[in-house]
Amino acid sequence: MTDTTKTAEALKRVLGDTYALYLKTHGYHWNVEGPNFKSLHELFELNYTQMWQSMDEIAERIRALGVYAPMGAELAQLAAIDSTDNSVPSANAMVQNLVSGHETFLEGAKKALDIAQEAGDPATEGLLADLITAHEKMAWMLRSSLER
Ligand SMILES: [Fe+2]
Repeated sequence: MTDTTKTAEALKRVLGDTYALYLKTHGYHWNVEGPNFKSLHELFELNYTQMWQSMDEIAERIRALGVYAPMGAELAQLAAIDSTDNSVPSANAMVQNLVSGHETFLEGAKKALDIAQEAGDPATEGLLADLITAHEKMAWMLRSSLER
């Protein structure tokens, strides 16, 4: 496998994780209940909108590296985050699940960043650095929304 292919493969997991977290966040946007409904409904919307946009950037970077972007069922298979759970937990458990999801995302993104650095691919490094910044911020805001 060439360095370019390795980088694209690492980006595929990042895309899969973004997709899984996007689906989870949008579903929670619809189904969250409780006294914090409005703020969580709106926070989830901000987050899923951002992830929907970043999916396009990640997929198009994979294409720029000469590899086909994953589609359909492959997206969910690539993810380390489970998006198949359709239970509706409490608002606080939703926030906790999303925090864990962002932590899993960040592990994958940091591994991909190492691979891009080894491959000498500054454009992918820049994309991943921006994604890490965005997901650390989303994780912070979610963590700060947890009841304690
Ligand atoms: Fe909505």
